[in-house]
Amino acid sequence: MRCILKGLFIGSILQASSSAFAFHNYDKASSKQYQTGNNNVIMGGMEDNDQSSGGWDDYADDWDNQPGVREFSQNTKNVLMKQDIPESWSQATILDLGCGTGILSRMIAGECKSIVSIDPSGKMVDVLKKHIENNEALQNILPVKGILDDATAGEFLEKKLGPFDAVVANSVCSFVPDYDALLLNIHKLLKPGGYFVQADFRQTKEPLTENQGDGFHEAFMRKAYTKAELTVITIEPMTVTENNIIVGVSKKE
Ligand SMILES: C[S@@+](CC[C@H](N)C(=O)[O-])C[C@H]1O[C@@H](n2cnc3c(N)ncnc32)[C@H](O)[C@@H]1O
Repeated sequence: MRCILKGLFIGSILQASSSAFAFHNYDKASSKQYQTGNNNVIMGGMEDNDQSSGGWDDYADDWDNQPGVREFSQNTKNVLMKQDIPESWSQATILDLGCGTGILSRMIAGECKSIVSIDPSGKMVDVLKKHIENNEALQNILPVKGILDDATAGEFLEKKLGPFDAVVANSVCSFVPDYDALLLNIHKLLKPGGYFVQADFRQTKEPLTENQGDGFHEAFMRKAYTKAELTVITIEPMTVTENNIIVGVSKKE
């Protein structure tokens, strides 16, 4: 994987992602479902002792203090909140995919009805759980340890956790092995009229590639959204804390 990203925040991401590609074997993930002691459901293909957090566990404790992460989430929140979702915002149901410690989930909890926040890193999810335990205002967040595969998408629908008014992936799609497959599951989980908001690092180095590990560019995203039958609303280059990012908004018709 080519290194395209700079800065401290990005440095962490790159290190974690290299190990992600080393240990992940998503095909082996089971779809076992089990309950935690509180009201949080854990499901979506991972055992508690599963080693496939992809190295992200190591970043969990300090993630909230990484330079730039809040600004990155704030920017994505601003884009998300501008969308004309099927429900009013106070009734909106959101899926925060690859939520990490839930920085974005926590930022939007007061704006919507409920958020399902899913991440394969148990430690990232544990940090989010602690925030929820200690904050009355975050009780509408359901933390889930898992990946968004066919089984998980099915379970979300079966348990009426979905479909969602919006799915948001904030600096996540670079780390997902099969971007096209992910978009198909996102499409499945959106209500008609629901939005997918994706923020990622932007490729700036020619020649641009269609390898998500290199980051994203407009033509690549446009092609993938179209293939997944998501209508492109906007795909915009942006700069957040001096990092080149790209934010895509697409919609299920
Ligand atoms: C750069 S962090 C972003 C975390 C969070 N969205 C934020 O903005 O703070 C990337 C996150 O993607 C998660 N991740 C890695 N592979 C994933 C996958 N296949 N599906 C969902 N999330 C994944 C990691 O566990 C990690 O928490």
